[in-house]
Amino acid sequence: MIVCICHGINEKAIHQAVADGACTMSDLACMTGVATCCGKCADCACNVLNEALGETYAQAA
Ligand code: FES
Repeated sequence: MIVCICHGINEKAIHQAVADGACTMSDLACMTGVATCCGKCADCACNVLNEALGETYAQAA
Protein backbone atom coordinates (compact mmCIF):
# COMPACT_ATOMS: atom_id res chain seq x y z
CA MET A 1 0.00 0.00 0.00
CA ILE A 2 1.26 3.46 -0.86
CA VAL A 3 1.61 5.57 2.29
CA CYS A 4 3.07 8.77 0.85
CA ILE A 5 1.80 9.73 -2.58
CA CYS A 6 4.09 12.77 -2.85
CA HIS A 7 7.22 10.62 -2.60
CA GLY A 8 5.85 7.23 -3.68
CA ILE A 9 6.70 5.62 -0.34
CA ASN A 10 5.00 2.33 0.46
CA GLU A 11 4.75 0.30 3.66
CA LYS A 12 7.66 -1.88 2.57
CA ALA A 13 9.95 1.16 2.31
CA ILE A 14 9.00 2.22 5.85
CA HIS A 15 9.64 -1.27 7.20
CA GLN A 16 13.02 -1.23 5.43
CA ALA A 17 13.86 2.17 6.95
CA VAL A 18 13.08 0.78 10.41
CA ALA A 19 15.28 -2.23 9.68
CA ASP A 20 17.99 0.28 8.74
CA GLY A 21 17.65 2.09 12.08
CA ALA A 22 14.75 4.55 11.87
CA CYS A 23 13.06 4.92 15.28
CA THR A 24 11.15 8.20 14.95
CA MET A 25 9.12 10.11 12.38
CA SER A 26 12.07 12.47 12.07
CA ASP A 27 14.35 9.55 11.19
CA LEU A 28 11.77 8.30 8.72
CA ALA A 29 11.42 11.72 7.10
CA CYS A 30 15.19 12.04 6.71
CA MET A 31 15.61 8.53 5.33
CA THR A 32 12.60 8.37 3.00
CA GLY A 33 11.19 11.88 2.61
CA VAL A 34 7.83 10.71 3.92
CA ALA A 35 5.59 13.51 5.27
CA THR A 36 7.94 16.23 4.05
CA CYS A 37 5.77 17.64 1.26
CA CYS A 38 2.02 18.04 1.88
CA GLY A 39 2.13 16.14 5.19
CA LYS A 40 -1.16 14.32 4.63
CA CYS A 41 0.53 10.95 5.06
CA ALA A 42 1.96 11.72 8.51
CA ASP A 43 -0.70 9.89 10.55
CA CYS A 44 -0.62 6.82 8.33
CA ALA A 45 3.19 6.85 8.21
CA CYS A 46 3.30 7.07 12.01
CA ASN A 47 1.01 4.07 12.29
CA VAL A 48 3.17 2.04 9.91
CA LEU A 49 6.30 3.17 11.77
CA ASN A 50 4.85 2.00 15.09
CA GLU A 51 3.80 -1.30 13.54
CA ALA A 52 7.29 -1.82 12.11
CA LEU A 53 8.94 -0.88 15.40
CA GLY A 54 6.68 -3.33 17.23
CA GLU A 55 7.70 -6.12 14.87
CA THR A 56 11.38 -5.20 15.24
CA TYR A 57 11.25 -5.29 19.03
CA ALA A 58 9.22 -8.51 18.99
CA GLN A 59 11.92 -10.15 16.85
CA ALA A 60 14.67 -8.88 19.14
CA ALA A 61 12.99 -10.26 22.29
S1 FES B 1 1.50 12.35 0.85
FE1 FES B 1 3.33 12.28 2.00
S2 FES B 1 4.05 14.32 1.98
FE2 FES B 1 2.30 14.36 0.73
